[in-house]
Amino acid sequence: MASLTVLSKSDKETIELGRMLGQHLQEGDILGLAGELGSGKTCLTKGIGQGLGLGPGEVITSPSFTLVNEYQGRHRFFHMDVYRLEHVSEFLGAGLEEYFYEPAVLVLEWADKWLEILPDHRIMIELLILDHTRRKITLTGEHPRAEEVIGSLKEGLGLPNSWTES
Ligand SMILES: Nc1ncnc2c1ncn2[C@@H]1O[C@H](COP(=O)(O)OP(=O)(O)O)[C@@H](O)[C@H]1O
Ligand SMILES: [Mg+2]
Repeated sequence: MASLTVLSKSDKETIELGRMLGQHLQEGDILGLAGELGSGKTCLTKGIGQGLGLGPGEVITSPSFTLVNEYQGRHRFFHMDVYRLEHVSEFLGAGLEEYFYEPAVLVLEWADKWLEILPDHRIMIELLILDHTRRKITLTGEHPRAEEVIGSLKEGLGLPNSWTES
């Protein structure tokens, strides 16, 4: 298992982390984001979009009326926010698990609600609110592909002083 913990001190730092992460992603990668409302899941997703090469005009917002937004960067990219669904049966009933097997990068907010159906190669990212501006962001992965992505991100970060690793 690979893990990396980063302390973000602003929304800009969270976007930057997402951007660096996005640069390492390929089709088939699945990122499961967990953390309470306002913890920065959508903010991190904006950065991931940038790292996937989305144009500056393509603004990532929470898909509130749709469950999934689709973007085209270096790879196809789906952003799924299924906050309003409560049971795995609703998720499966909406056919959403088909997105797990698309040739695309998938970011799923509220992923802790769907752990039992998420593929093994998922990278889980937990965002914890420490205070107004600080978030503890922990990435974990067990599958070799997830370990590879987390390892590349660690190398890329070079872990400057303000960021912590565990
Ligand atoms: N370090 C930080 N990282 C991310 N967001 C932060 C941070 N500090 C403050 N914020 C603020 O917290 C909010 C996060 O919102 P959002 O990304 O939509 O959260 P979520 O999608 O988890 O509900 C934004 O208003 C953002 O400006
Ligand atoms: Mg959100």
